[in-house]
Amino acid sequence: MNTIATLTLYEIADAAALLARGRLVSFATETVYGLGADATDDRAVAAIFAAKDRPRFNPLIIHLADLSDASRLAVLDGVALELARAFWPGPLTLVLPLRAGSGLSPLVTAGLDTVAVRIPDLPQARDLLRRAARPIAAPSANPSGRVSPTTAQHVLDGLGGRIDAVLDGGACGVGLESTIVGFDPVPILLRPGGLSAEIIARHLGAPLAQPKADARITAPGQLASHYAPQGTLRLNADRPDAGETMLGFGPVTSDLNLSQTGDLAEAAANLFRHLRTLDDRGVQRIAVSPIPDTGLGAAINDRLRRAAAPRA
Ligand code: TXA
Ligand code: MG
Repeated sequence: MNTIATLTLYEIADAAALLARGRLVSFATETVYGLGADATDDRAVAAIFAAKDRPRFNPLIIHLADLSDASRLAVLDGVALELARAFWPGPLTLVLPLRAGSGLSPLVTAGLDTVAVRIPDLPQARDLLRRAARPIAAPSANPSGRVSPTTAQHVLDGLGGRIDAVLDGGACGVGLESTIVGFDPVPILLRPGGLSAEIIARHLGAPLAQPKADARITAPGQLASHYAPQGTLRLNADRPDAGETMLGFGPVTSDLNLSQTGDLAEAAANLFRHLRTLDDRGVQRIAVSPIPDTGLGAAINDRLRRAAAPRA
């Protein structure tokens, strides 16, 4: 791979100028750090896939500053528009019909006739997107299959030397990727994430549909092994076996705890950071407390199951 200048911490205007020149810039969002590039520039988008070693069939999310920008790229009406009005900016990605003449690189959508769009709930990110003045494609800023970054340092640890800059926005508040909703035409939960399915269901007055079991992979970290640390995980463990390091939840004896008080939002924000800490300590076997499967717990358990899955 051909790469780069030294990675530095950039100011917003410099970062926007780099994006406009087709370069790769990582930026903070409320969920995780994204690896951004001009979504209308084939070479820039191809560079994202190269930097991450990402399979080309896995399409990217477009990040925008305003709802009106979304309507130019995608058909945003009906229930989708209702959800956008209710939850944007925020940790919700909508998979929408792609508009003809959107100008997006076909690499972004992996040739699908839909496009995934979201408006991040971090003022710095929206400021960057407004200044860049073009749709920005941004997967999570980690090597493909590994744990998503929630600080600028995590981005440097995983992709330093492969990207042009990282805009430091501090630690991500949500800590889990966005919830992805598609339409068939009823709303379907394609990936649990930082906006709980219950909150969306309450707004809709009906639960979200589940993807059909035989559906081909249209979304995410649906690749079985994903979000993986170096060590192996054993889930729903009440206590560690000999040789295991305990990642706790709630008032349990543990080496690291996602939330001593059993707060799921705190646990979500800590999840990826703690998995990295365990990696840094060279831990080989991790036992994880049971996490309730409600609210953000559903997304936490989804990431833990994929992190625990046999590696490709
Ligand atoms: O919170 C997030 O969503 C973060 C931040 C940076 O915004 N981004 C993120 O991107 O998690 P990524 O690439 O790691 O995950 C996005 C997933 C992809 O795995 C892809 O399968 C799915 O979104 N996706 C993108 N376009 C799609 C489409 N047209 N139809 C179905 N799924 C799509
Ligand atoms: Mg990702």
